[in-house]
Amino acid sequence: MDNAVLLDVQGVRKTFPRPDGGELLVLDDVNLRIADGEIVGLLGRSGSGKSTLLRLIAGLSRPAGGRVSYLGTVVDGPPPGIAIVFQSFALFPWLTVLENVEIGLEALGLPQPETRRRALEAIDLIGLDGFESAYPRELSGGMRQRVGFARALVVHPNILLMDEPFSALDVLTAETVRTDFLDLWSDGKLPIKGVVLVTHNIEEAVQMCDRILLFSTNPGRIIGEIAVDLPQPRDRLDPSFRALVDRIYIAMTARQEEAQRHLARLDRLPGIGIDTILSEVSTNLLSGLLERLAGAPYNGSADLPVIASALHMEVDDLFPVAETLQMLRFVEIEGGDIKLTEAGTEFADAETDLRKQLFGRNLLLHVPLAGHIRRILDERTHHTAPKGRFLDELEDHMTPDAAEQTLRAVTSWARYGEAFAYDDQKQTFSLENPA
Ligand SMILES: Nc1ncnc2c1ncn2[C@@H]1O[C@H](COP(=O)(O)OP(=O)(O)OP(=O)(O)O)[C@@H](O)[C@H]1O
Ligand SMILES: [Mg+2]
Repeated sequence: MDNAVLLDVQGVRKTFPRPDGGELLVLDDVNLRIADGEIVGLLGRSGSGKSTLLRLIAGLSRPAGGRVSYLGTVVDGPPPGIAIVFQSFALFPWLTVLENVEIGLEALGLPQPETRRRALEAIDLIGLDGFESAYPRELSGGMRQRVGFARALVVHPNILLMDEPFSALDVLTAETVRTDFLDLWSDGKLPIKGVVLVTHNIEEAVQMCDRILLFSTNPGRIIGEIAVDLPQPRDRLDPSFRALVDRIYIAMTARQEEAQRHLARLDRLPGIGIDTILSEVSTNLLSGLLERLAGAPYNGSADLPVIASALHMEVDDLFPVAETLQMLRFVEIEGGDIKLTEAGTEFADAETDLRKQLFGRNLLLHVPLAGHIRRILDERTHHTAPKGRFLDELEDHMTPDAAEQTLRAVTSWARYGEAFAYDDQKQTFSLENPA
């Protein structure tokens, strides 16, 4: 066997019992090898079995078929050379940082002076010096996660398994901890030989990994492997970085043709009319995305798949939000990039009342159905109109269900933007709210 292979996973299969007595197939025929010096990413949607695979590698559970070997020996319990960092760390609140890190060494039974020396060294390495006697409650999320890293590294593992180690941190903190980790790794300062990184975040995988394995869901299988040949440190604005992100995103979207079509469709300003079926997207999501785009690190524009990952949304779920914002002309979308317009920037910077005004204005200007309803209400003497009137009109162009949905969507946006009101009991639209 090749000496450089640290870890060899062959034909691994994993099932869990189902409550109804059947079996849930979670991993099927998974094969992977980790060589000395590699960071390998496992990228997949929630439920694709990534954590399950890490637990198998760590010897915390057994496969139903196939095998996991570490340095040529089959794993049948936790091997001493493998450590895990989790998404959030169960630190002991009554122990100091130093004591929390020393706990990692308990199983090795080293003499106390050696334990102390190694714990201090790990604390120093990971940027926690000065915090040795602090308690977890005194630390920020990023610092607590560094304690988690120190506790894993203190055993000097050959392989470090990381299960979404940055995903519980805010964007900027995650970026700092990630970059610090990569710097230490590139400088050869970490006492480890290989890393397996589980993540949902495409950009994080491209930034950190030498190879990325793409997981399918139900069951989890490796459906693709992508080598990342870009030199470290990687620049996420570099065109080849972004092209790779887009390629992975298309490969990972279950309905790939639809994803491509969506990206293409978003490129054109959609021709919207009264007969356009509208998606029900909450105004919270709409303003949330605008705010996120306006803030650091995006400063007004982002790669759609990247911001989806950052928001922990599947790109498929982000499409209707992006399309609605585009229809309202708060964003422009081109080649998978989403960019705030002037109106979008104004919205993101504004207070609640001004936001509502801006939203109402763009709704009436750019969503023909909203303008149409408003015009009819303006023209009628009592400024009211029954819902049925609009439903009939919409049903000439779409199914009754789509007509209901479209009317619900425009009603919730109009309420937020105070463009018109709707009384569900009377099934009547009116100009009650607007001045
Ligand atoms: N102990 C268990 N008993 C039964 N089912 C389980 C168990 N652990 C995991 N599963 C199921 O296995 C599937 C894969 O879970 P796993 O946690 O490995 O996914 P994941 O890819 O890590 O997801 P996430 O990205 O949400 O962390 C899920 O359907 C989950 O419900
Ligand atoms: Mg998981």
